[in-house]
Amino acid sequence: MSKVTVVGAGAVGATCANVMACREVASEVVLIDIKEGLSEGKMLDMYQCSTLMDFDTKLVGATNDYKRSGNSDVVVITSGIPRKPGMTREELIGTNAEIMKGVIANIVKYSPRAIIIVVANPMDTLTYLALKASGLPKNRVIGMGGALDSSRFKCYLAKATGANINNIDGMVIGGHGDTTMIPLLSKASVNGVPVTQFASKKKLAEAVANTMVGGATLTKLIGTSAWYAPGAAASMMVESILHDQKKLIPCSCYLEGEYGENDLCIGVPAIIGRKGIEKIVELDLTKEEIEKFAASAAAVHKTNDVLREIKAI
Ligand code: 2OP
Repeated sequence: MSKVTVVGAGAVGATCANVMACREVASEVVLIDIKEGLSEGKMLDMYQCSTLMDFDTKLVGATNDYKRSGNSDVVVITSGIPRKPGMTREELIGTNAEIMKGVIANIVKYSPRAIIIVVANPMDTLTYLALKASGLPKNRVIGMGGALDSSRFKCYLAKATGANINNIDGMVIGGHGDTTMIPLLSKASVNGVPVTQFASKKKLAEAVANTMVGGATLTKLIGTSAWYAPGAAASMMVESILHDQKKLIPCSCYLEGEYGENDLCIGVPAIIGRKGIEKIVELDLTKEEIEKFAASAAAVHKTNDVLREIKAI
């Protein structure tokens, strides 16, 4: 028996719940939203896919009822306002920090053993807030950004190299921001063979640049923030936790000395299993990548400082 709660029945939260149901990631998925009827309606719609998609996950929608989500093993937090075209993720902080604090209080009360996955933006800073506000150990609060950014990086690398997308290996570390994320070209490969053997420097540089504005490109096209890949990325993390898959996933982790940084949550590769963040993996980075990581951390620290300014922590 395993239970997952998704907070926020918007496009990302509902997609995450849907992917988890279709893949039978958990025995029960609860979707919570403040809007009357929204989560009940979406879960009823999803439940009606059971025979079509051949799954039997128990699906529950609950308007603002955290009791119904009690004793969840994992809670995915997607609630908050999404960015509109032209906005940065950082501009959402005031509103979303307030929402996050309310959600965290309920999770700690009703699901004290849960591992928390933060999806809402600004993701690294809200992961830090979730950690501080919950008082949970650092292995149990994880931010989703790197998993999503890495999947986008792989898509652009597949285009640049012409290789099969499932042969592509690629990782994005650093902050989940248009200018702070660091797609690691030095580690990218086609089944272990460096991508430089398959594409020109120019094409690979384009793949990196496109990855960094991957979310903004979608926001501009759609008119609001993306949901298919964000929802699937969160589901993949839940699966690695509940099934103890111990996948190596770039995600936002609290650092205490790793990568030369302290007291922030930022994207680094980590082994994700039943205990949450089981090990942070330190990569052998180039001098340029080390400098970029330090700059990215400085930017995340700056956004975290806003939490103190607005007295959220
Ligand atoms: C994105 O990059 C939602 O931040 C998320 O699309």
